[in-house]
This record gives sequence, structure tokens and C-alpha cells, in this order.
Amino acid sequence: MREVGIGIAGFGTVGGGVLSILSRHAGDIEARLGAHLTVKKVAFRDAGKSRALDVPASVLTTRVEDLLEDPGVEVVVELMGGVDEAFALVTGALSRGKHVVTANKALLATRGQEIFRLARARSVDVYYEAAVCGGVPIIRTLRESLASDRINGLVGIVNGTTNFILTAMAERGEAIGPVLAEAQRLGYAEADPTLDVSGGDAAQKLCVLAQLAFGARLEPKDVLTEGIMRLSPDDFRWGREFGYTLKLLAVARRCEPAGSGPGGKDLVEARVHPAFIPQGSLMAGVRGAMNAVVLQSEALGTSMLYGQGAGAMPTGSAVVSDIIDLTRNIMAGSPGRVPLPPEQSLVELRPHSEIRCAYYLHFSVKDEPGVLARIASTLAARSISVAAVQQREQADASAPVPLVFVTHQAREADLKAAIAEIDRHPATLNPTRFIRIESV
Ligand code: NAP
Ligand code: HSE
Repeated sequence: MREVGIGIAGFGTVGGGVLSILSRHAGDIEARLGAHLTVKKVAFRDAGKSRALDVPASVLTTRVEDLLEDPGVEVVVELMGGVDEAFALVTGALSRGKHVVTANKALLATRGQEIFRLARARSVDVYYEAAVCGGVPIIRTLRESLASDRINGLVGIVNGTTNFILTAMAERGEAIGPVLAEAQRLGYAEADPTLDVSGGDAAQKLCVLAQLAFGARLEPKDVLTEGIMRLSPDDFRWGREFGYTLKLLAVARRCEPAGSGPGGKDLVEARVHPAFIPQGSLMAGVRGAMNAVVLQSEALGTSMLYGQGAGAMPTGSAVVSDIIDLTRNIMAGSPGRVPLPPEQSLVELRPHSEIRCAYYLHFSVKDEPGVLARIASTLAARSISVAAVQQREQADASAPVPLVFVTHQAREADLKAAIAEIDRHPATLNPTRFIRIESV
């Protein structure tokens, strides 16, 4: 039976999951593959750390170069995280004609183009199913299952940590601080959770998805990115009154009309931000640390993938599926069977100021004659149409009164200009809060 040598760089959460699956499911994998996968090397950094799994000492190393130098390693599996060292390892592997599997969205979102170019030049494969939504097969769906279709939009809950936090805030009415601390205690959030709560992790994942869905060439800095730290229990309470719940969404869509960008290319929008969505919607049912992506495509219509976006075994399962797929290519002598994303961007990014959304606006104003009318006329002057209004009577007439508007679809630049004007008025006592509304 053909043997394929694997080198795994990283023996942490995901590396441990991969080794466990390769060992537990060895028989099944061999039967499905008609080949034997042999782990030739496992690299990590700290030789003093205890490891939950028993791996023969002969394969362990603290030098990732050992993976590159071993001619028996045909597939390098990068599970270290970070960008610079991972880039050096991945490009080192590709230059030597080794195939690569990686779970590293930060690497792909920032240096994916260089990696894909090198892989094409060396006729080797790069697989990265685990980089977005852990165990949920969204990459394979976009690359293969929907290769026949034209994707017009995708909306994802692609960060489990923030979804856990927002679900707990919605269901328990707690402030973000204690819920974030709980997420850290339970191991969902990192010791430094900045990348998750800032929306940065979701923006990296959106870049990877938008490239597959639309041929967009985006970097995280191109994505409109707003995190969840400014959200308060009050936002959830108000949202509920209008029939909404709050989620951190990653959104990428082709904009109408088709071909309206430079060179006749389609324009796409790309954004990550908290959004109100209808309480009974598919996405509202995605609770806790779960992930989901809703796709809108021309032939299939609306479809949704749902599952665990993180953790050793779900993520490890995606990595091992990549190793199996890639090994099939090796055995069939057909690397590049599933082409990497195109080098040139097929679409252009629409400026964020042109985004069109419905909005929730929370004004904090003096309770005096003419205030509501002035706000409504400032919105109307910028073609922003009001869909609903709520004001709560205050016992203390001198206290700021919350005045909440929901608008119909409006242009983001118009909305921000209206808010700036309203916030300059002496009757506005605190800066206006706004949250975009999506109908997924
Ligand atoms: P992790 O638990 O921190 O593990 C990282 C591993 O890489 C550790 O074993 C570490 O060694 C090793 N390492 C780091 N730098 C190294 C170097 N220069 N040389 C050799 N070994 C090195 O990370 P993880 O959670 O498994 O994540 C790995 C990758 O998967 C990341 O790109 C992450 O974004 C992605 N991912 C993770 C999840 C998840 O659920 N955790 C889900 C989807 C994608 P030591 O053990 O000695 O420290
Ligand atoms: N930190 C990520 C999340 C997991 O919370 O979804 C790895 O992608």
C-alpha cells in the first residue's frame, strides 16, 4: 500500500486534534484512501511542555526545518498560527515541492496571494478548510460543491467566541465584561481576546471566503470592521422591542447593478459588525459558540452551513479531510485538480460610505418640544425614511430621554452625516448610537 508522509508543525489545540483523529480513525482513513498516512514529524516549540497525547519520541522535534529537510514528508501541515514563521514554513515547503495544509486564516488573509502564486509555480496543492469556521466545510462547498453556481452574497457568524458572548448577553441580560471573563474561563476566548472581540478574526475569515465566493482580493484592512465591545444590555433590550437579536455578522455581497465597477467588474461590499437580525431568522438560531454561513447563489438559492467553528476535534477533522483530499491528488498524480483562487481580482470593493442598510438609531435627547420633529427632518433631508419610532416616558423630565428610530434602507454616508448634524445640536445629550440591521 502506498505510504504518504505527513509533517505536522504545531502540537497545540488543533495539532493535538489532528494527531488524535489520525490515530483513532487510521483504519477507516486507510480504507477510504487506499494509502497509509504516516506522521513522520511533529514540531512544537517548548520541549518542556507536557502533551496530552502519546506520540513516539522519534517523530518529535522543536525544529520546523526538520519537516522541510525530511524527503519522506510529502505534506506539511501548518498548525502553529501567527504569520511570519508560518509563512516561512509554508513557502519553504512549497519551494521544495511539498504540499501544504494550513488552518491559518491570518496567514491566508495577509499573505495568501504569495503562497498561492508559489504553489501554482511549483504545481503543488494548498488546502485550508480549517481556516474558516473550523469543522464546517465552507471552503470545500465554495471551491467544489458550488463551483457550478454564481454566489451573490454570503452572511456568516464566523467567530465562536463573540457568538458565545452575544448569546449570553441576549439570554441573560448581562454586560459584556463578565460574559467575556466567562468565555475566557471556559476556554472559548484567548487570554488576549482582542482579535475576536474587535471583529479582526472575522474580517480575516471574510477575506478568505470572499476570495472563493467572488474572486475578490481583499486584505483585512479593506473590510469595514467593528467589534462588539461597545454593545450594552440596553441595546439587546431595545432590539427585542423591535423583534431583533444581535449578532456579529461577516457580510460580503455583490452590489447592484452587475458590472458597475471599474472595467465593468462587479462591485462587492465587505463588512464585519454587530447587526440586528429578526429574532425568528435562521441566523438567530445560531447560539453559543456555533458558527454558520448563509449563502445566496443563483442556481441553489439560499443555503446554510452550520456547525462547530473551533476546538480540537472539529477543527482537526477539517484538517484531516484536507490531508485525505490532498493525498488523493498525490495518488492520482493530479495536484492542482481544484484550482487555487485567481491571481487577479475579479471584482472591485465598493466604498464603505456607499453601503445601504436599514439602521437602528438610539438618540439621547432633552425631552422638549420640537426635538423629535428636528431629528425626523434632519433624516428626511438626507432621504432617510423612518420605519418605526419609540420613546419611553421619563419620570424625571430633566434626564436624557432615549428616542429610538428604525430606518428603511439608507446610504451609510447619508446616515453618518445626519447623525453628525443631530449630535451637534444642544438638545442631543449623548452621542447617538447606531446599529445596522440585516434581514438574514
Ligand atoms: P495553539 O494551541 O497555540 O498551538 C500552536 C502550536 O504551535 C503549539 O504546539 C506551539 O508549540 C507550536 N508552535 C508555535 N510556534 C512554533 C514554532 N515557531 N516552531 C514550532 N512550533 C511552534 O494554537 P491552535 O489553537 O492549535 O491554532 C493553530 C492554528 O489553527 C492557528 O492558525 C489558528 O488560527 C487555527 N485555528 C484554530 C482553531 C481552534 O479552535 N483553536 C480553529 C480554527 C483554526 P508549543 O506547544 O510548544 O507552545
Ligand atoms: N477564535 C476563533 C473563534 C476560533 O472564536 O471562532 C478560531 O478560528
